[in-house]
Amino acid sequence: MKYFERMKEKFKKLQAKKDVIVLSIESSCDETSVAVVKNGREVLSNIIASQIEIHRRFGGVVPEVASRNHITAIANIFDEALQKAGVTKNQIDAVAVTYGAGLVGALLVGVNFAKSLAYTLDVPLIAVSHVHGHISANYISHAKLEPPFVCLMVSGGHTAILEVKDYEEYRLLGTTVDDAVGEAFDKVARVLGLPYPGGPEIDKLAKTGKDIYKFTVSNSLKDTFNFSFSGIKTAVVNFVHNHEQKGEAFEKCDVARSFEEHVTDELTSKAVRACHYVGQTKLVVAGGVGANYMLKEKLKEMCEKEGIEFYAPVLSFCTDNAAMIGSAGYYMIKKGLGLADLDLTAKPNVELGAVYETKS
Ligand code: KG4
Ligand code: ZN
Repeated sequence: MKYFERMKEKFKKLQAKKDVIVLSIESSCDETSVAVVKNGREVLSNIIASQIEIHRRFGGVVPEVASRNHITAIANIFDEALQKAGVTKNQIDAVAVTYGAGLVGALLVGVNFAKSLAYTLDVPLIAVSHVHGHISANYISHAKLEPPFVCLMVSGGHTAILEVKDYEEYRLLGTTVDDAVGEAFDKVARVLGLPYPGGPEIDKLAKTGKDIYKFTVSNSLKDTFNFSFSGIKTAVVNFVHNHEQKGEAFEKCDVARSFEEHVTDELTSKAVRACHYVGQTKLVVAGGVGANYMLKEKLKEMCEKEGIEFYAPVLSFCTDNAAMIGSAGYYMIKKGLGLADLDLTAKPNVELGAVYETKS
């Protein structure tokens, strides 16, 4: 019997199995990560090899360099993840991997490693969307959190509001029409001469600055749940260039603060309005920008006022990691979704809210 035919049977059995151990792999950008997750919530290990230092000197992620570093790191990270978890290869019930969205060359390293592993161990291969992984980071952070809820998804690649109706059941309410919010943070940091990744640098700097510049977010999308950050990003870039050309002084912290205030106001008000719109009383933030202090403070405060429960992932699960992929993979197994064959390949873009379609 062919691998995929055998796996269809094993996959069905896994849906009913009491304890399920998922080995998960994430390599969509500049973090190589392997984790072992039990029953979707118990993180037995989560090893992350960050390439931030390598890319910092280029001022951003260089895709080719990222792929090469994933290749050299992944086998050792895998060994370390098993060792830390105290689990043997034979105890792995399934392999879950990020197949998109992300840098194709980087993703391919994880996908190919996962395929070889699933084939060798003769266990099902689960294709996980990176974005859904970010949302699941909340399940490993909050033992009692269950869908339904509204999710504000904010990362370097995505900005969206989704209604999470059930595990792996999504409805997209709005998305960015241009830049992702993390991209805007990184660009603003770059023009201010701050190191990569810029988001955390802006976060730090903004705490000491004043909101004195009127960098506003476009009003044209105010009645929707969509976002546009390219206008405010360009306004900041022009402001800095104009001042530099004229030799006029300004405080970087005031620019960072003014930018961050307006961006976080926009994210907060739309996310809370989305909760009321769909009648949900739980709001969850996900993705790297979810680590932002001001954003979390505003969301917390506004949710409290409006009678909404607010959840954010613990800091270490906010940015890219494999544990969140293992959690999403587990819930996909339980819902009979995402089983992949050995022809699985990397996708630069994955439709927000769409779950990998198993071929029949
Ligand atoms: O989720 P993530 O690790 O990767 C993607 O899936 O894109 O998000 C990375 C993004 C980067 O743009 C980074 O600058 C931003 O998240 N970020 C932050 C903070 N920490 C990371 N942005 C604002 N404040 C932070 N504290
Ligand atoms: Zn990410």
